[in-house]
Amino acid sequence: MQIKGHAAVVTGGASGLGQATARVLAEAGAAVTVLDVNADGARATAAAFGGLGLGCDVTSAESVAEALAQATAAHGPARICVNCAGIVAGGRVVGKEGPHDLATFSRVIAINLIGTFNVMSQAAAAMVDLEPEAEHERGVIVNTGSIAATEGQVGQAAYAASKGGVASLTLPAARDLARSGVRVMCIAPGLFQTPMFDTLPQDIYDALIKKTLHPHRLGRPEEFGRLVRALVENPMMNGSVVRLDGALRLEPR
Ligand SMILES: NC(=O)c1ccc[n+]([C@@H]2O[C@H](COP(=O)([O-])OP(=O)(O)OC[C@H]3O[C@@H](n4cnc5c(N)ncnc54)[C@H](O)[C@@H]3O)[C@@H](O)[C@H]2O)c1
Repeated sequence: MQIKGHAAVVTGGASGLGQATARVLAEAGAAVTVLDVNADGARATAAAFGGLGLGCDVTSAESVAEALAQATAAHGPARICVNCAGIVAGGRVVGKEGPHDLATFSRVIAINLIGTFNVMSQAAAAMVDLEPEAEHERGVIVNTGSIAATEGQVGQAAYAASKGGVASLTLPAARDLARSGVRVMCIAPGLFQTPMFDTLPQDIYDALIKKTLHPHRLGRPEEFGRLVRALVENPMMNGSVVRLDGALRLEPR
C-alpha cells in the first residue's frame, strides 16, 4: 500500500523504534499520530515533523478509543497502524526472593501483548469500513515482537511470553482480516540502539555487540522504521514474523 497521503498511528512513538518509525512514515508522506503513555514525549516527537502527538495508555480500551478518535478527527482513519509500545522487565521463574512476582509478569503481558491487541483490534475496526485501494487493500498493521519470543534468555520469562503472544497472533489476525483487505505483520528485532541501552555498562554493551554477527553493531532505530515502510509498501507481506537482527541468535544468558 502506498504511504503518501494516508493516516498512520504509531504507539510507543515517544522513544526508540516507535519514534524512528513515526519519522520514517512522516518522511514518506503519511499524516502521523504518535501515541505514547509519555504524552509530552509523543507531542515532542510529532512536533518535529508536523504530526499529532497524544497521550495514550495501550492497556486501556477507553484510552485507545479516545486517542484513535482524536487521530481520526485530525487526519482521517488510519490505514497504517504500527505497535511499538512495550516494556522490558526481568525476573527468573524462581528467583532469590521466591517465585516470579506475578504483578510484574502481568504488567509485561498487559502492555506488550494485550496492549498490542487492543490497539490493533480497534485500529482494524476502523480500517475495515474504509474504501479499498488497489488490490482490495484497506490497511496494514505492523506489530513489534522480539527474537526473545523464540530465544528467551535466563530472566526473560515474562518478556518472552509477551512477545511469543505477539508473534503467535500474527497469522490468525491476518487470516481474520484478510477478507477486509487488512494485512498484519510482525517484526522481531534483535538488539537496537534505543534509550533502553543508554544506561548499560560498556562491558555488557560490548558483549551484546559481539553476538550480532554482521553488521557488527546494534541496529539503528531508523533501520526498523525502514522495514516498517517496506512491509507497508509490499502487498505480499502478510501473516508472518520477520527477524531484523544481523544474524544474532540469543544464548541462554
Ligand atoms: N530496542 C531493542 O533492542 C528491542 C529489541 C526487540 C524488541 N524491542 C521491542 O520494540 C518496542 C520498542 O522498544 P524500544 O527499544 O523503542 O523501547 P523504548 O523504551 O525506547 O520505547 C518504548 C515506548 O513505549 C512507551 N510505552 C510503555 N508503556 C506504554 C503504555 N502502556 N502505553 C503507551 N505507550 C507505552 C514508552 O513510554 C516508550 O516511549 C518494544 O515493544 C520492545 O519490546 C526492542
